[in-house]
Amino acid sequence: MESTDGRKAEERVFIFDTTLRDGEQSPGASMNPDEKLRIARQLEKMGVDIIEAGFPVASEGDFASVQQIAREVRGCQIAALARANAADIDRAWEAISEAAAPRIHTFISSSDIHLKYQLRKSREEVLSEAVAAVAHARGYTDNVEFSPMDATRSDRDYLCEMVEAVIAAGATTVNIPDTVGYAIPEEFGDLIATLFKRVKNIRQAVISVHCHNDLGLATANALAAVKNGARQVECTINGIGERAGNSAMEEIVMAIKTRKDLYGLRTGIKTEYIHQTSRLLMQITGIPVQPNKAIVGANAFAHESGIHQDGLIKEKSTYEIMTPQSVGILETRIVLGKHSGRHAIADRLRALGYGLADEEINRIVVHFKELADVKKEVFDEDLEAIVYEESSRSEERYRFVYLNVVSGNATVPTATMQMEVDGKMVQEAGFGVGPVDATFTAIRKITKTDYPLLKYAVTAVTGGTDAQGEATVQLKFNGRSAVGRGAHPDVLVASAKAYINALNRLEWLSKDIKKVKVA
Ligand code: KIV
Ligand code: ZN
Repeated sequence: MESTDGRKAEERVFIFDTTLRDGEQSPGASMNPDEKLRIARQLEKMGVDIIEAGFPVASEGDFASVQQIAREVRGCQIAALARANAADIDRAWEAISEAAAPRIHTFISSSDIHLKYQLRKSREEVLSEAVAAVAHARGYTDNVEFSPMDATRSDRDYLCEMVEAVIAAGATTVNIPDTVGYAIPEEFGDLIATLFKRVKNIRQAVISVHCHNDLGLATANALAAVKNGARQVECTINGIGERAGNSAMEEIVMAIKTRKDLYGLRTGIKTEYIHQTSRLLMQITGIPVQPNKAIVGANAFAHESGIHQDGLIKEKSTYEIMTPQSVGILETRIVLGKHSGRHAIADRLRALGYGLADEEINRIVVHFKELADVKKEVFDEDLEAIVYEESSRSEERYRFVYLNVVSGNATVPTATMQMEVDGKMVQEAGFGVGPVDATFTAIRKITKTDYPLLKYAVTAVTGGTDAQGEATVQLKFNGRSAVGRGAHPDVLVASAKAYINALNRLEWLSKDIKKVKVA
């Protein structure tokens, strides 16, 4: 396609975000429906083409959440995952039928290892199930995606045959997954090139890729596929996902943007939302990214070496291949304090990218004032912690009211706690080996729960001795785990809030029993 000034217009790579489906399969990353909706709205805002909202047959909760996203997020395609059988596909369609642009994504394994040990079916049987599934989905919509699972360990002749057959049956997107993260970039690029050479009807479908990061190559593999003709990439924010995760959206998008000279392609992502989206996901799941993580890590734009700093002062491009602003890191750092009014707080929230309703801003302002009374300077990170706490309130069965702790080396640490449980005030005291142990004992007594504690950690939200402590608590129940977070200048209050937050999240998870899981 030529643009009006005679330059060749760049071709588009579609971004298919699976944070809410494959991403949610990260241990501890379970999200409740409100949180999933918040993420989906953010993905829509940043210009994602397709959101894979979930796997509706997996549980009642997954179904309801996919349906809610399909109804409320209208600016992009909404995909639902289904195994290659009529019951899964019917359920997926039921969940997304009201979407502005629904997509059914159906899959079945194509590798001999999976056929022999997992499906216990012949190649012929699996091929005909794949074709039947696509045909069944086409009965509902003309937007059907098919994935041959474990494609990279499949026999190439059989894979080509399957891809050709599903396109003939009506698949409009064919996704090639590296399910176990086994591929190497040259090899994966070559696999995509082979499909383009050997599958006669391949131009009738968009070729997509879905890479796992077991060897740390998920992004490299996806980019090698793009170089060889793939035009949809499946990815997740911060690269979360099953085991070592998936290709990270921010890496794919920034690689295509930064190396336009090499790819000559573009995505529809508004990259200035990357940082904020990454933070939102961290806030919601409690899963941090490592400081040296590409694009979104705390050190991704920090230059430590003197030689580098000298170069940067002289000319930014000496050591900077992309600007922090291009991924949404704000240039100006505004510090708020107890004299800041509603207007300044609302303004800062907007600059940080939070589109909040008036009522939510009111709650945040009250919380802000409480914090500013004890902490002189309120930073962006403090505000984000407040937003997290205030926006996760609707799902709460348990609420923190009051905590008093007596501790020291010459006394038995004792915590007296008051909480609201199902709207009723309950008070208890607990002893422990230390103040945190005593606090958690009191909470367990009040809530009559005793879930194993998988993780407990406290970090400072910002620098300074008056910084808020941010506590993370991970609890386990019935094979699933939930991460809770809490922030407060008093680390014991932060810890109690984190424990209660984890309990509230487990409460929802324990009602939503998963019947099926995928890779
Ligand atoms: O990794 C995988 O193969 C998947 C498929 C369901 C696309 O997640
Ligand atoms: Zn996957």
